[in-house]
Amino acid sequence: MGRRSHKQELHKKKVEISQTIYLPRSWDYYERFKQPYFYPFEFSQIEIKQSELGDIKINATLWDTAIVMSKFFELEIGRDGLKGKRIIELGSGVGLLGVVLSLLGADIIITEQKSMHGILEYNVKKNCKDLSKTKVQELWWGDNILDFKPPFDMIVGSDLIYEDHCIDLLLKSLMDLSSFHPKPKSKYSDIIDQLDENGNIPENLLENLKINNDNEEEEENDEEEEEEVEEEEKEEKEDLDEEDRDDLEEDNKKENIYDSNFQYNKEIKKKYKNKKIKEDDEELKGEDYLVSSSLLEPNPDTVIYLGYEHREMNAESIFMNKVNKYFHVETITTKHLNPGFSGVDIRILKMKKIKQQPPQEEKDKEENK
Ligand SMILES: C[S@@+](CC[C@H](N)C(=O)[O-])C[C@H]1O[C@@H](n2cnc3c(N)ncnc32)[C@H](O)[C@@H]1O
Repeated sequence: MGRRSHKQELHKKKVEISQTIYLPRSWDYYERFKQPYFYPFEFSQIEIKQSELGDIKINATLWDTAIVMSKFFELEIGRDGLKGKRIIELGSGVGLLGVVLSLLGADIIITEQKSMHGILEYNVKKNCKDLSKTKVQELWWGDNILDFKPPFDMIVGSDLIYEDHCIDLLLKSLMDLSSFHPKPKSKYSDIIDQLDENGNIPENLLENLKINNDNEEEEENDEEEEEEVEEEEKEEKEDLDEEDRDDLEEDNKKENIYDSNFQYNKEIKKKYKNKKIKEDDEELKGEDYLVSSSLLEPNPDTVIYLGYEHREMNAESIFMNKVNKYFHVETITTKHLNPGFSGVDIRILKMKKIKQQPPQEEKDKEENK
């Protein structure tokens, strides 16, 4: 009995692996939209409905990368690597990859723009077995991600690198989702963190608080003194005669002109400098936007799998020029996965966020060299 079931297992494995999936690869969107897509999965198939009402939208069809990535997770990562894992998918489109990961046992949040949720939810409900562990939610890249409650074991995305202006937004979301997020601190968080198990303030902390309190009182006294000086100056000014007052106003005017000129020159210099940097290096454009996300502490347990078709698009080179600055990247090729995939070059980037040095620490390091 045991032997037979082992044989059956082997046979099952052979059947699964020998299925050849040919990629649709049709750029005739009308043809592509008409039919649902059938993805062979284990002894059955997953049916993915495409565009609603036959409208042509880039996100309303299934892209080849999603099919190849689904096969990659099935064959190379497998159930053992996915069961119970907390995963988030970005830009799911019609949802094949999310559905496959859900069927392989993951606990997954499938995200997309709201306008796609109708068709996406339809495909999820039709194919997923455990809807308590498979959620569809809205996520615009670059938006606040705290509602998704990181940490995640995995972040996945297929065919998301195609629009130049979205690259920074995508990188920001990937960084935010693969980081630890400090709890928002209240004025008393530090004190609360140090209370003993009975909720009492330890002796040394009490002493510190007393010292700080004395300092605060001193500061308050200084402020009072400053206010008194200002009041005296005001009174003196009121006692001046007409002529003295005119002179004083003239001096003030000059000082203001000088100040605003100085301010103006500074602004111009800043603008000129920024413009020059942009001209010299287009890449720096969105950099400011990414800095705060890059400084968040990386979560070492989060792995990102991002699939794309290598077709030398501008967005691909922009992405590749930036990604190594923020992530450790390993490239996985996929042609071997299935005979039907041999005609395309779909690659999967396996990424982990890099720990960035805050600017001051970097500066100190430079100085110590
Ligand atoms: C080429 S489709 C890929 C869809 C799906 N992953 C697949 O491979 O079949 C790109 C997806 O990214 C989504 N997308 C593009 N820009 C986005 C943004 N800024 N925020 C959220 N989603 C976005 C689109 O709605 C679309 O579904």
